[in-house]
Amino acid sequence: MNRTKIVAGNWKMNKTFDEGLELAQQITNKAKNASCKVVMASPYIHLHALRQVIGKSDTVFLAAQNCHHETKGAYTGEISVEMLKSIGVDYVLVGHSERRAYNQEDHKMLAKKVNLVLQAGLKVIFCCGEPLTVRQDNAHIQHVKRQLRESLFHLYESEFDRVVIAYEPVWAIGTGETASPEQAQEMHKAIRRMVENSYSEACAQATTLLYGGSCKPSNAKELFSQPDVDGGLIGGASLKADDFMAIINSI
Ligand code: PGA
Repeated sequence: MNRTKIVAGNWKMNKTFDEGLELAQQITNKAKNASCKVVMASPYIHLHALRQVIGKSDTVFLAAQNCHHETKGAYTGEISVEMLKSIGVDYVLVGHSERRAYNQEDHKMLAKKVNLVLQAGLKVIFCCGEPLTVRQDNAHIQHVKRQLRESLFHLYESEFDRVVIAYEPVWAIGTGETASPEQAQEMHKAIRRMVENSYSEACAQATTLLYGGSCKPSNAKELFSQPDVDGGLIGGASLKADDFMAIINSI
C-alpha cells in the first residue's frame, strides 16, 4: 500500500527564535529531496518566520503543536485555528500526552479541536497512547480505542484523508525507552483495524500512522520497517538537524 510517509519533528518548548530559524533552515535545505513528507512542529512564535523559510514545498510542512478549542474571543494567551490558518500552517498536533496530562485536555475538548482544525481546511496529527500502568494491565489497546472513539471517530470518512494518527506510548516519550518494533506494530495494526471497523478498509489502508516515543537514528529503521508504521513523530531527536535527517533517511 502506497500510504503517505511522514516524519514529523515536535520541538516542544525548545529553541529560541534564532535557534529555531537556524534549525528550520538546515532541515528545509537538507530535506528537499526526502522520500517522505517532513513536518516541523515549532513553538507558536516561530511559525510565521518558518513559513517564509520553508516557502512553497511539496516535501517540508509546518505544524503547530496545539490550538485552542474555541474559535475566538476572551481567551487570554490562546491561539485559534483561524490564526494558524492565516499564517499558512499546514498541520496541527492535537491530543499530545503532555497536553492531556499538564493541561487537563479531555476527550471532548480534543474532539472540538479536531473539528476546528478540519473545518479550517488544515490537517490534524492526532496523538494517542497509553501510560505505563495501562500497558502493565494489558489494557493498552482498549485505552487507545477509547481515545480514538471519543475524539476522532465522530468524523465523516470524507474528512479522514486529512487525519494522521500518531501512536505515542506515554512510557516511551522522552524516557529513552522505545516501544519494540513488535509492540509498535501490534498497536498500529490494531489502530488500522479500528479505522476499518469505524469507516472502511480503503480508509484504513490510506491512513498514515506514526510512531512516537524515543525514536532516534539508531532505532528508526527497524520501527519504520514494520508494515503498519508509516513514519514517526520525533521529539528530542528532532532538535538536531543531523539526527532528524538520519531519521528521515531511515524511511
Ligand atoms: P520523544 O518525544 O521523541 O522525545 O520521546 C516524542 C513526542 O512526544 O512527540
